[in-house]
Amino acid sequence: MARSFSGSGDMRALGAERARILLVDDDERNLLAVKTVLDDVAEVVLARSGEEALRHLLRGEFAVILLDVYMPGMDGYETAQMIRSREQTKRIPIVFLSAVNKESEHLLRGYAMGAVDYVFKPVDPVVLKSKVAVFVDLFQMRREIQRNAAHEQKLLDATIRANAEKLRVEQELRLAEQRQAAILQSLPIVLYLEDRDAVPRVPRFVAGNFQALTGFDFDAVRANPNLWEERLHPEDRDRALAGIAGRRSAQAGAFEYRWQCADGTWKHFLDQAVLLRDDMGNMTEFAGTILDVTERKALEAQLTHSLKMDAIGKLTGGIAHDFNNLLAAVLGGLGMIERRIPMSDDQRRIVEMTRHAAEQGTELVSRLLSFARRQTLEPSTLPIRRLGASVGDLLSHTLGGLVRLDWQLADDLWPAYADASQLELALMNLIINARDAMPDGGTITVAAENRALTTPGEYGLDAGDYVLIAVTDEGGGIPSHLIDQVLEPFFTTKEQGKGTGLGLSMVYGFAQQSGGTLRIESEAGAGTRVEIWLPRALAEADSEPEAAAEPLEIAETRGALRVLLVDDHAGARVTTAALLQDLGHEVVEAADGPKMLDLLRARPADFDLIISDYAMPLISGSEGIRQAREINPDIPAILITGYAEAASISGRPADVHILLKPFGTEQFAAAIGNAMTRRSVAIAAE
Ligand SMILES: Nc1ncnc2c1ncn2[C@@H]1O[C@H](COP(=O)(O)OP(=O)(O)OP(=O)(O)O)[C@@H](O)[C@H]1O
Ligand SMILES: [Mg+2]
Repeated sequence: MARSFSGSGDMRALGAERARILLVDDDERNLLAVKTVLDDVAEVVLARSGEEALRHLLRGEFAVILLDVYMPGMDGYETAQMIRSREQTKRIPIVFLSAVNKESEHLLRGYAMGAVDYVFKPVDPVVLKSKVAVFVDLFQMRREIQRNAAHEQKLLDATIRANAEKLRVEQELRLAEQRQAAILQSLPIVLYLEDRDAVPRVPRFVAGNFQALTGFDFDAVRANPNLWEERLHPEDRDRALAGIAGRRSAQAGAFEYRWQCADGTWKHFLDQAVLLRDDMGNMTEFAGTILDVTERKALEAQLTHSLKMDAIGKLTGGIAHDFNNLLAAVLGGLGMIERRIPMSDDQRRIVEMTRHAAEQGTELVSRLLSFARRQTLEPSTLPIRRLGASVGDLLSHTLGGLVRLDWQLADDLWPAYADASQLELALMNLIINARDAMPDGGTITVAAENRALTTPGEYGLDAGDYVLIAVTDEGGGIPSHLIDQVLEPFFTTKEQGKGTGLGLSMVYGFAQQSGGTLRIESEAGAGTRVEIWLPRALAEADSEPEAAAEPLEIAETRGALRVLLVDDHAGARVTTAALLQDLGHEVVEAADGPKMLDLLRARPADFDLIISDYAMPLISGSEGIRQAREINPDIPAILITGYAEAASISGRPADVHILLKPFGTEQFAAAIGNAMTRRSVAIAAE
C-alpha cells in the first residue's frame, strides 16, 4: 500500500490533476467523516442522493464511487444499476458503504449490482483509506497510461507526418532533378566542374548530355586526359589553350573553338566558366558550361556571306553599268569611223580588233550585270524539255568525247517561269564547269524535278512551287573552304586565260533575279551538284512572250526625221547623235530632261521623235517623255537604257520602245522604224 500512496503523491508532484472520489450518502455525518478520512487521498465530491450522484457523474470523471446502500428515494442498488447501465460510467468501481448487515444475500445483491467492494459502517479509516487508495492509484495509473498512449500516438502521428512530408519532399526533389536532367539532356549544353589548375584540363564532374554533345562517354575522357586538347581544330588550338590559361588569372573566361566529335564531325563550342570560392574562401574550382553553337555559327556565316554577296553585287552592278555606257560610246564611235572614214585594209583590221575587244568587254559586263541582278530578263513560261534539247545541241561539240551528258527530266515537269536564253546560258555554264572538273571524262547528269516548298524561308525561298534543275558531275569537287567563294565574281581556280570566274556568279544572280536560288552541294573528291531553283510558271497563258520580247522587225523609216535627243552623258549623246546623222536624221541635243522640255515647248510641232536616256539626274527618261507628251501628245519616243531592267522601269508611258545599250546601227534603225510605225498604226486606229 505504501507504493499506492507514494504513487498518488507522484501523480500530484507531476502536476497531474487530482483524482476525484464521488461519495454518496444521505447522512451528513457520514459524509463529513468519510470525507475527512479521504481528503488527502483524493478530492472528495459529495452527493446526498442517488440523483445528485448521477448528475455529478454526467459532468466529470471519478476514480471510485463510495455508495451508501440505504438512502431514501433511489437507494444504493438502484443508483449502482443506473451507473452500470451508462456507457460513460459503467467501468467506475463502486464501493458500497453499508451499516446494516454482512449477510451474504445482501452482499451478493450488491455485487450483482456492480459493486467491487464493501466497507462496513462504522468505517475503519485505515481500511477505507487503503481500499480507496487502491482504486485511486489504479485510476491514476490508467490515466497515465492513457496519457502516455495519447502522447505516443501523437509522437507516432508526428513521425508519420514527418516521414510522409520527407517522402513528398524527396519525391519532389527527385522529380525536379529528373526534370532538370531531362532539360539538360535536351539542350546542346554540358555543365562541368573542373579543378582550377588541372593540367591537362579534365572536368571532375559533368552534367547534361555529354555523350550527345561530343559523341564520347565521359569515362573515355577520364581514361585519356589529353582527349580535349587532341581534338581541338588545329587553327583554334592556340586560342583555346590561351583561353584556358587566361581564365586562371582572370577568374572567369569564355572562348570558342572547333572540336572534333567522336564521329569525326566538327562542332563549334562556346566554353564559359567562372572560378568558385569554397567554404574556406579558396578559389580552386571552375564551374562552367560547354555550349554547342555550331548552328548559330553556320547561320552567322550564311548571313555574312549573303551580306557580302549583296555588297559585291552593288559594287559590281555600279561599275558594270558605267562600263556599259562607255562601251556603248566606244562601239558607236567605231561604227561611225567605219562608215564615215575610208580606210586601208590594215586600218580596217585595227578597227575590227578594237570592236572585237569592245564586244568582249560588253559580254563581260553583261555577265557582271547578271550577277548583280540587273540583267534585263524576259521571263516566259518555259518547258524545260525543249530547253534540254537546245542546250544539248549547243554543247555537243564543246564537251568532247570523254564526257557523257545524261538528261533525266521528270515526265510531269512543271514549266518554269524564266528567261529562256539566260537559262540556256546558265545551264551551259554549269555543264562546262562540270566538264572542266572531270579532265579524265565522266558523266554529267542534268536532272529536273518539281519541288513544292511549304515552309517559307526554306533555302531562302518563299513557300511555293519550284522547278529544280540540277547539274551533277563526278569530278574533284569543291573543297569546303572554297565553297563560299565560288559564287563571287572573278573567283576562279582555273589558270590564267582559262576562266573568268564569272560563270557561277552569273548563274547565281540569274537564279536570284528570277525569284529562285542557286545551291551547291560538293565535297572534295566526291563530285559536285549545282541546283538552279526557278519558280513554276503559274498559267499556260503566260507562255506568250511579253511585248518587250517581241522580235524587232526592221521597218522602213519615212525619210529624214527631226529627232530630239536627251542624254546626260556627253560621250554617249555625241555617239548616238552621230549614229542618227549617219542614218540621215537631223538631231537636236539636250543634256537633261528640263532642257529637252524647254526645247520642245519652244517648238512643239517641230520634232518627229524623242530619244531619251533612262537613268538621268533631275528627271528620269520616263518622266521626261511623260511631260513631253503633255506638250505634244502624239510624239513617238524611244527610251535608251544602260542597265535598268526593262520590266522594272517605272512610269513608262504606253507605246514607248525600249532600246538596250549597247546597240548597233541596225538595231537602232529598227527601233526607230518600230517607234514610228507603232505610232502611225496607233494614229490610224484612232
Ligand atoms: N563542277 C565543279 N566542280 C569543281 N569545281 C567547280 C565546279 N564548278 C565550279 N567550280 C569551282 O568554282 C570556280 C568558279 O566557277 P565559275 O564558273 O564561277 O568560274 P570559272 O569556271 O572558273 O570561269 P568561267 O566560268 O567564268 O569561265 C571554278 O574555278 C572552280 O574552282
Ligand atoms: Mg565556269
